[in-house]
Amino acid sequence: MSTSDREIKNLLVTGGCGFIGSNFIRFLLESSGFKGKVVNVDKLTYAGNPLNLRDIEEKFPGRYIFERADICDLERLDEIFSKYEIDSVCHLAAESHVDRSIKKPAEFIYTNIVGTFNLLEVSRSRPSFVLFHHVSTDEVYGSLGPEGLFKETTPYHPNSPYSASKASSDHLVRAYNETYGLPVTVSNCSNNYGPYQFPEKLVPLMILNGVEGKPLPVYGDGKNVRDWLFVEDHCDAIWTIMRKGAAGETYNIGGNSEIENINVVYTICDILDSILKPVPGTRELIKFVKDRPGHDRRYAIDFSKLHKELGWNPRESFATGIEKTVKWYLENTGWTKSVKSGDYLKWIDEHYGN
Ligand code: NAD
Ligand code: TYD
Repeated sequence: MSTSDREIKNLLVTGGCGFIGSNFIRFLLESSGFKGKVVNVDKLTYAGNPLNLRDIEEKFPGRYIFERADICDLERLDEIFSKYEIDSVCHLAAESHVDRSIKKPAEFIYTNIVGTFNLLEVSRSRPSFVLFHHVSTDEVYGSLGPEGLFKETTPYHPNSPYSASKASSDHLVRAYNETYGLPVTVSNCSNNYGPYQFPEKLVPLMILNGVEGKPLPVYGDGKNVRDWLFVEDHCDAIWTIMRKGAAGETYNIGGNSEIENINVVYTICDILDSILKPVPGTRELIKFVKDRPGHDRRYAIDFSKLHKELGWNPRESFATGIEKTVKWYLENTGWTKSVKSGDYLKWIDEHYGN
Protein backbone atom coordinates (compact mmCIF):
# COMPACT_ATOMS: atom_id res chain seq x y z
CA MET A 1 0.00 0.00 0.00
CA SER A 2 1.39 3.42 -0.91
CA THR A 3 0.75 6.81 0.70
CA SER A 4 -1.86 7.98 -1.72
CA ASP A 5 -3.81 4.72 -1.42
CA ARG A 6 -4.87 5.20 2.18
CA GLU A 7 -7.59 7.78 2.22
CA ILE A 8 -8.93 8.53 5.68
CA LYS A 9 -12.02 10.72 5.93
CA ASN A 10 -13.57 10.34 9.37
CA LEU A 11 -10.97 9.46 11.95
CA LEU A 12 -11.83 8.40 15.48
CA VAL A 13 -9.02 9.25 17.93
CA THR A 14 -9.37 7.65 21.35
CA GLY A 15 -7.78 9.28 24.39
CA GLY A 16 -7.50 12.58 22.54
CA CYS A 17 -7.65 14.64 25.75
CA GLY A 18 -4.53 12.97 27.14
CA PHE A 19 -0.92 13.92 26.64
CA ILE A 20 -0.08 12.27 23.31
CA GLY A 21 -3.66 12.29 22.04
CA SER A 22 -4.05 16.06 22.39
CA ASN A 23 -0.69 16.66 20.74
CA PHE A 24 -1.68 14.27 17.95
CA ILE A 25 -5.01 16.00 17.25
CA ARG A 26 -3.31 19.40 17.27
CA PHE A 27 -0.68 18.08 14.84
CA LEU A 28 -3.31 16.46 12.59
CA LEU A 29 -5.44 19.57 12.24
CA GLU A 30 -2.73 22.23 12.24
CA SER A 31 0.23 20.75 10.42
CA SER A 32 -0.30 17.34 8.83
CA GLY A 33 -2.33 18.29 5.76
CA PHE A 34 -5.15 15.94 6.84
CA LYS A 35 -8.43 17.20 5.36
CA GLY A 36 -10.99 15.01 7.10
CA LYS A 37 -12.85 15.04 10.41
CA VAL A 38 -11.48 14.08 13.82
CA VAL A 39 -13.83 12.60 16.40
CA ASN A 40 -12.18 12.50 19.81
CA VAL A 41 -13.57 9.84 22.15
CA ASP A 42 -12.33 10.26 25.70
CA LYS A 43 -13.72 9.21 29.08
CA LEU A 44 -11.98 12.16 30.82
CA THR A 45 -10.23 10.29 33.60
CA TYR A 46 -7.83 12.28 35.81
CA ALA A 47 -5.41 12.15 32.83
CA GLY A 48 -7.83 13.56 30.27
CA ASN A 49 -8.11 17.32 30.11
CA PRO A 50 -10.46 18.87 27.51
CA LEU A 51 -8.78 22.24 28.14
CA ASN A 52 -5.78 20.82 26.22
CA LEU A 53 -7.82 21.27 23.04
CA ARG A 54 -10.00 24.33 23.76
CA ASP A 55 -8.24 26.42 21.08
CA ILE A 56 -8.53 23.57 18.56
CA GLU A 57 -12.27 23.25 19.26
CA GLU A 58 -12.67 26.96 18.45
CA LYS A 59 -10.39 26.91 15.39
CA PHE A 60 -11.85 23.84 13.70
CA PRO A 61 -15.63 23.79 14.26
CA GLY A 62 -17.17 20.90 12.36
CA ARG A 63 -13.80 19.22 11.77
CA TYR A 64 -13.02 18.58 15.43
CA ILE A 65 -15.74 16.85 17.44
CA PHE A 66 -15.54 15.71 21.05
CA GLU A 67 -17.59 12.83 22.46
CA ARG A 68 -17.19 11.97 26.11
CA ALA A 69 -17.39 8.17 26.16
CA ASP A 70 -15.80 5.14 27.77
CA ILE A 71 -14.22 2.68 25.33
CA CYS A 72 -15.50 -0.09 27.61
CA ASP A 73 -19.04 0.88 26.50
CA LEU A 74 -19.54 -1.13 23.30
CA GLU A 75 -23.02 0.23 22.48
CA ARG A 76 -21.89 3.82 22.80
CA LEU A 77 -18.93 3.13 20.49
CA ASP A 78 -21.25 1.56 17.96
CA GLU A 79 -23.48 4.67 17.99
CA ILE A 80 -20.51 7.01 17.58
CA PHE A 81 -19.11 4.98 14.65
CA SER A 82 -22.50 5.19 12.92
CA LYS A 83 -23.18 8.85 13.72
CA TYR A 84 -19.88 10.05 12.22
CA GLU A 85 -19.37 7.31 9.60
CA ILE A 86 -16.01 6.45 11.14
CA ASP A 87 -13.67 4.78 8.64
CA SER A 88 -10.45 4.72 10.69
CA VAL A 89 -9.23 4.66 14.27
CA CYS A 90 -6.10 5.90 15.98
CA HIS A 91 -6.28 4.23 19.37
CA LEU A 92 -4.44 5.99 22.19
CA ALA A 93 -6.87 5.75 25.12
CA ALA A 94 -5.30 3.87 28.00
CA GLU A 95 -4.42 3.88 31.62
CA SER A 96 -0.79 4.80 31.12
CA HIS A 97 1.11 5.17 34.38
CA VAL A 98 3.22 2.24 35.61
CA ASP A 99 3.17 3.29 39.29
CA ARG A 100 -0.65 3.43 39.30
CA SER A 101 -0.79 0.01 37.64
CA ILE A 102 1.29 -1.44 40.47
CA LYS A 103 -1.02 0.04 43.13
CA LYS A 104 -4.38 -0.54 41.37
CA PRO A 105 -4.24 -2.72 38.25
CA ALA A 106 -7.96 -3.35 37.60
CA GLU A 107 -8.64 -0.23 35.51
CA PHE A 108 -5.66 -1.14 33.30
CA ILE A 109 -7.25 -4.48 32.48
CA TYR A 110 -10.66 -2.96 31.66
CA THR A 111 -9.55 0.02 29.61
CA ASN A 112 -6.41 -1.31 27.97
CA ILE A 113 -7.64 -4.83 27.16
CA VAL A 114 -11.47 -4.82 27.16
CA GLY A 115 -11.60 -1.29 25.70
CA THR A 116 -9.29 -2.28 22.84
CA PHE A 117 -11.34 -5.42 22.21
CA ASN A 118 -14.53 -3.31 21.96
CA LEU A 119 -12.96 -0.94 19.46
CA LEU A 120 -11.75 -3.86 17.35
CA GLU A 121 -15.22 -5.43 17.41
CA VAL A 122 -16.93 -2.25 16.23
CA SER A 123 -14.24 -1.62 13.61
CA ARG A 124 -14.55 -5.07 12.10
CA SER A 125 -18.32 -4.66 11.80
CA ARG A 126 -17.93 -1.68 9.40
CA PRO A 127 -18.09 -2.65 5.72
CA SER A 128 -15.47 -0.29 4.31
CA PHE A 129 -13.12 0.20 7.19
CA VAL A 130 -9.77 1.73 6.20
CA LEU A 131 -7.36 1.44 9.16
CA PHE A 132 -7.08 0.65 12.86
CA HIS A 133 -3.85 2.11 14.21
CA HIS A 134 -2.88 0.97 17.70
CA VAL A 135 -0.49 3.12 19.73
CA SER A 136 1.59 0.98 22.05
CA THR A 137 4.77 1.07 24.08
CA ASP A 138 8.28 -0.38 24.03
CA GLU A 139 7.60 -1.59 27.59
CA VAL A 140 5.93 -4.73 26.14
CA TYR A 141 9.43 -6.04 25.34
CA GLY A 142 10.56 -6.00 28.99
CA SER A 143 13.96 -4.86 30.16
CA LEU A 144 17.32 -4.75 28.33
CA GLY A 145 20.77 -5.36 29.79
CA PRO A 146 23.56 -2.87 29.06
CA GLU A 147 23.70 -3.87 25.36
CA GLY A 148 21.18 -4.33 22.56
CA LEU A 149 18.05 -2.65 21.25
CA PHE A 150 14.38 -3.62 20.99
CA LYS A 151 13.46 -4.69 17.46
CA GLU A 152 9.98 -5.47 16.13
CA THR A 153 10.95 -9.16 16.40
CA THR A 154 12.02 -9.00 20.07
CA PRO A 155 9.86 -11.45 22.09
CA TYR A 156 7.31 -9.87 24.40
CA HIS A 157 8.25 -9.96 28.10
CA PRO A 158 6.12 -7.37 29.94
CA ASN A 159 6.98 -6.84 33.61
CA SER A 160 4.34 -4.47 35.02
CA PRO A 161 0.54 -4.70 34.99
CA TYR A 162 0.62 -1.68 32.64
CA SER A 163 2.97 -3.27 30.12
CA ALA A 164 1.20 -6.65 30.40
CA SER A 165 -2.14 -4.98 29.59
CA LYS A 166 -0.59 -3.17 26.61
CA ALA A 167 1.03 -6.43 25.40
CA SER A 168 -2.35 -8.11 25.61
CA SER A 169 -3.98 -5.37 23.53
CA ASP A 170 -1.18 -5.56 20.93
CA HIS A 171 -1.86 -9.30 20.55
CA LEU A 172 -5.58 -8.70 20.09
CA VAL A 173 -4.94 -6.12 17.38
CA ARG A 174 -2.57 -8.43 15.52
CA ALA A 175 -5.01 -11.33 15.86
CA TYR A 176 -7.87 -9.27 14.35
CA ASN A 177 -5.70 -8.71 11.32
CA GLU A 178 -4.82 -12.41 10.96
CA THR A 179 -8.28 -13.77 11.77
CA TYR A 180 -10.68 -11.23 10.30
CA GLY A 181 -8.44 -9.38 7.85
CA LEU A 182 -8.99 -6.09 9.72
CA PRO A 183 -6.47 -3.58 8.31
CA VAL A 184 -4.28 -2.69 11.29
CA THR A 185 -0.95 -1.09 12.05
CA VAL A 186 0.79 -1.08 15.45
CA SER A 187 3.48 1.22 16.80
CA ASN A 188 5.62 0.57 19.87
CA CYS A 189 7.16 3.77 21.11
CA SER A 190 9.70 4.79 23.73
CA ASN A 191 9.16 7.37 26.52
CA ASN A 192 7.61 10.63 25.35
CA TYR A 193 8.03 14.09 26.84
CA GLY A 194 6.69 17.51 25.86
CA PRO A 195 3.75 19.89 26.42
CA TYR A 196 0.51 18.78 28.13
CA GLN A 197 1.97 15.76 29.98
CA PHE A 198 0.29 15.00 33.30
CA PRO A 199 2.76 15.74 36.12
CA GLU A 200 2.91 12.21 37.49
CA LYS A 201 5.46 11.23 34.82
CA LEU A 202 9.17 11.89 35.32
CA VAL A 203 9.74 14.95 33.11
CA PRO A 204 6.79 17.22 34.06
CA LEU A 205 6.98 16.14 37.71
CA MET A 206 10.63 17.20 37.93
CA ILE A 207 9.95 20.51 36.16
CA LEU A 208 6.98 21.48 38.32
CA ASN A 209 8.54 20.30 41.60
CA GLY A 210 11.77 22.07 40.65
CA VAL A 211 9.93 25.36 40.06
CA GLU A 212 8.19 25.06 43.43
CA GLY A 213 11.32 24.03 45.34
CA LYS A 214 9.83 20.64 46.21
CA PRO A 215 11.87 17.37 46.42
CA LEU A 216 12.75 15.63 43.14
CA PRO A 217 12.22 11.90 43.85
CA VAL A 218 14.61 9.68 41.88
CA TYR A 219 13.86 5.96 42.12
CA GLY A 220 16.68 3.56 43.14
CA ASP A 221 20.15 4.57 41.97
CA GLY A 222 18.80 6.78 39.14
CA LYS A 223 20.69 4.73 36.54
CA ASN A 224 17.66 3.24 34.78
CA VAL A 225 17.78 4.16 31.11
CA ARG A 226 14.92 5.34 28.89
CA ASP A 227 15.03 6.34 25.20
CA TRP A 228 13.41 9.80 25.18
CA LEU A 229 11.29 11.06 22.29
CA PHE A 230 9.76 14.54 21.87
CA VAL A 231 5.98 14.08 21.60
CA GLU A 232 5.64 15.99 18.30
CA ASP A 233 8.09 13.54 16.71
CA HIS A 234 5.91 10.70 17.98
CA CYS A 235 2.82 12.33 16.42
CA ASP A 236 4.62 12.67 13.10
CA ALA A 237 5.68 9.00 13.27
CA ILE A 238 2.12 7.82 14.00
CA TRP A 239 0.77 9.78 11.06
CA THR A 240 3.55 8.52 8.78
CA ILE A 241 2.61 4.94 9.69
CA MET A 242 -1.12 5.61 9.28
CA ARG A 243 -0.57 7.02 5.80
CA LYS A 244 2.14 4.74 4.49
CA GLY A 245 2.57 1.74 6.80
CA ALA A 246 1.71 -1.70 5.47
CA ALA A 247 -1.40 -3.30 6.96
CA GLY A 248 -0.57 -6.01 9.49
CA GLU A 249 2.83 -4.48 10.31
CA THR A 250 4.37 -3.25 13.55
CA TYR A 251 6.81 -0.32 13.68
CA ASN A 252 9.08 0.65 16.57
CA ILE A 253 9.45 4.37 17.26
CA GLY A 254 12.38 5.79 19.25
CA GLY A 255 14.29 8.98 19.84
CA ASN A 256 17.95 7.93 19.56
CA SER A 257 18.24 9.43 23.05
CA GLU A 258 19.17 6.84 25.64
CA ILE A 259 19.69 8.65 28.93
CA GLU A 260 19.95 7.60 32.58
CA ASN A 261 17.13 9.05 34.70
CA ILE A 262 19.55 10.99 36.88
CA ASN A 263 20.94 12.75 33.81
CA VAL A 264 17.43 13.66 32.65
CA VAL A 265 16.86 15.20 36.09
CA TYR A 266 20.24 17.02 36.06
CA THR A 267 19.44 18.48 32.63
CA ILE A 268 16.05 19.77 33.80
CA CYS A 269 17.64 21.25 36.95
CA ASP A 270 20.31 23.03 34.90
CA ILE A 271 17.77 24.53 32.46
CA LEU A 272 15.63 25.75 35.39
CA ASP A 273 18.74 27.25 37.03
CA SER A 274 19.71 29.08 33.85
CA ILE A 275 16.26 30.69 33.64
CA LEU A 276 15.16 31.13 37.26
CA LYS A 277 18.57 31.42 38.97
CA PRO A 278 17.41 29.98 42.32
CA VAL A 279 19.74 29.83 45.34
CA PRO A 280 20.63 27.10 46.16
CA GLY A 281 20.52 25.42 42.73
CA THR A 282 17.74 22.99 41.76
CA ARG A 283 20.01 19.90 41.91
CA GLU A 284 19.95 20.34 45.72
CA LEU A 285 16.31 19.16 45.62
CA ILE A 286 17.17 15.69 44.26
CA LYS A 287 16.20 12.92 46.66
CA PHE A 288 16.97 9.25 45.99
CA VAL A 289 13.92 7.23 47.10
CA LYS A 290 12.87 3.58 47.33
CA ASP A 291 12.91 1.89 43.91
CA ARG A 292 9.76 0.99 41.95
CA PRO A 293 8.97 -2.76 42.28
CA GLY A 294 9.98 -4.66 39.12
CA HIS A 295 11.58 -1.48 37.73
CA ASP A 296 12.80 -2.18 34.17
CA ARG A 297 16.47 -1.28 33.92
CA ARG A 298 16.89 -0.17 30.36
CA TYR A 299 14.78 0.51 27.26
CA ALA A 300 16.28 1.36 23.88
CA ILE A 301 14.67 1.24 20.47
CA ASP A 302 15.86 0.19 17.03
CA PHE A 303 13.59 2.18 14.71
CA SER A 304 15.49 1.36 11.50
CA LYS A 305 12.41 -0.33 9.99
CA LEU A 306 10.37 2.88 10.25
CA HIS A 307 13.31 4.90 8.95
CA LYS A 308 14.18 2.62 6.01
CA GLU A 309 10.67 1.70 4.90
CA LEU A 310 8.79 4.94 5.59
CA GLY A 311 11.56 7.55 5.79
CA TRP A 312 10.82 8.75 9.33
CA ASN A 313 13.41 10.31 11.63
CA PRO A 314 13.00 12.28 14.86
CA ARG A 315 13.58 16.02 14.37
CA GLU A 316 14.39 16.97 17.96
CA SER A 317 17.44 15.88 19.95
CA PHE A 318 16.91 15.51 23.69
CA ALA A 319 18.82 18.78 24.22
CA THR A 320 16.52 20.82 21.96
CA GLY A 321 13.31 19.02 22.95
CA ILE A 322 13.83 19.30 26.70
CA GLU A 323 14.67 23.00 26.45
CA LYS A 324 11.39 23.63 24.57
CA THR A 325 9.53 21.49 27.09
CA VAL A 326 10.83 23.24 30.21
CA LYS A 327 10.01 26.62 28.65
CA TRP A 328 6.49 25.43 27.75
CA TYR A 329 5.75 24.50 31.38
CA LEU A 330 7.18 27.80 32.62
CA GLU A 331 5.12 29.81 30.11
CA ASN A 332 1.81 27.92 30.44
CA THR A 333 1.13 28.65 34.08
CA GLY A 334 -2.65 28.67 33.53
CA TRP A 335 -2.49 25.05 32.39
CA THR A 336 -0.08 23.90 35.09
CA LYS A 337 -2.09 25.60 37.88
CA SER A 338 -5.36 24.05 36.72
CA VAL A 339 -3.79 20.59 36.47
CA LYS A 340 -2.05 20.77 39.83
CA SER A 341 -5.06 22.18 41.68
CA GLY A 342 -7.49 19.78 39.98
CA ASP A 343 -9.54 22.78 38.74
CA TYR A 344 -9.92 21.11 35.34
CA LEU A 345 -11.79 18.26 37.07
CA LYS A 346 -14.30 20.77 38.48
CA TRP A 347 -14.62 22.25 34.98
CA ILE A 348 -15.35 18.76 33.58
CA ASP A 349 -18.05 18.20 36.20
CA GLU A 350 -19.68 21.53 35.39
CA HIS A 351 -19.66 20.88 31.63
CA TYR A 352 -20.26 17.16 31.37
CA GLY A 353 -21.55 16.03 34.76
CA ASN A 354 -19.99 13.17 36.64
P1 NAD B 1 -2.46 9.74 29.11
O1 NAD B 1 -2.64 9.00 30.38
O2 NAD B 1 -1.91 11.12 29.14
O3 NAD B 1 -3.88 9.84 28.34
C1 NAD B 1 -4.76 8.77 28.26
C2 NAD B 1 -6.11 9.30 27.80
O4 NAD B 1 -7.01 8.19 27.69
C3 NAD B 1 -6.76 10.30 28.78
O5 NAD B 1 -7.26 11.40 28.09
C4 NAD B 1 -7.88 9.48 29.42
O6 NAD B 1 -8.98 10.29 29.85
C5 NAD B 1 -8.25 8.53 28.29
N1 NAD B 1 -8.90 7.31 28.78
C6 NAD B 1 -8.50 6.51 29.79
N2 NAD B 1 -9.38 5.50 29.96
C7 NAD B 1 -10.34 5.65 29.01
C8 NAD B 1 -11.50 4.92 28.66
N3 NAD B 1 -11.85 3.82 29.33
N4 NAD B 1 -12.25 5.35 27.62
C9 NAD B 1 -11.92 6.47 26.94
N5 NAD B 1 -10.84 7.22 27.24
C10 NAD B 1 -10.05 6.80 28.26
O7 NAD B 1 -1.59 8.79 28.18
P2 NAD B 1 -0.50 9.17 27.08
O8 NAD B 1 0.81 9.30 27.75
O9 NAD B 1 -1.01 10.25 26.23
O10 NAD B 1 -0.46 7.80 26.25
C11 NAD B 1 -1.33 7.60 25.14
C12 NAD B 1 -1.07 6.22 24.57
O11 NAD B 1 0.29 6.13 24.16
C13 NAD B 1 -1.31 5.09 25.55
O12 NAD B 1 -1.94 4.04 24.86
C14 NAD B 1 0.09 4.69 26.00
O13 NAD B 1 0.13 3.33 26.33
C15 NAD B 1 0.89 4.98 24.74
N6 NAD B 1 2.31 5.33 24.96
C16 NAD B 1 2.64 6.32 25.83
C17 NAD B 1 3.98 6.66 25.99
C18 NAD B 1 4.39 7.78 26.91
O14 NAD B 1 5.60 7.98 27.11
N7 NAD B 1 3.49 8.57 27.46
C19 NAD B 1 4.98 5.96 25.29
C20 NAD B 1 4.57 4.94 24.40
C21 NAD B 1 3.24 4.64 24.24
P1 TYD C 1 7.76 7.39 33.98
O1 TYD C 1 7.74 8.81 33.53
O2 TYD C 1 6.79 6.97 35.04
O3 TYD C 1 7.63 6.48 32.68
P2 TYD C 1 7.82 4.85 32.51
O4 TYD C 1 7.66 4.22 33.83
O5 TYD C 1 6.69 4.54 31.58
O6 TYD C 1 9.17 4.66 31.91
O7 TYD C 1 9.21 7.06 34.52
C1 TYD C 1 10.37 7.24 33.72
C2 TYD C 1 11.55 6.76 34.53
O8 TYD C 1 11.74 7.63 35.65
C3 TYD C 1 11.37 5.38 35.12
O9 TYD C 1 12.61 4.69 35.09
C4 TYD C 1 10.95 5.64 36.56
C5 TYD C 1 11.66 6.93 36.89
N1 TYD C 1 10.96 7.83 37.83
C6 TYD C 1 11.65 8.35 38.94
O10 TYD C 1 12.84 8.06 39.15
N2 TYD C 1 10.99 9.20 39.77
C7 TYD C 1 9.68 9.54 39.58
O11 TYD C 1 9.11 10.31 40.40
C8 TYD C 1 8.99 9.00 38.43
C9 TYD C 1 7.54 9.35 38.19
C10 TYD C 1 9.68 8.17 37.58
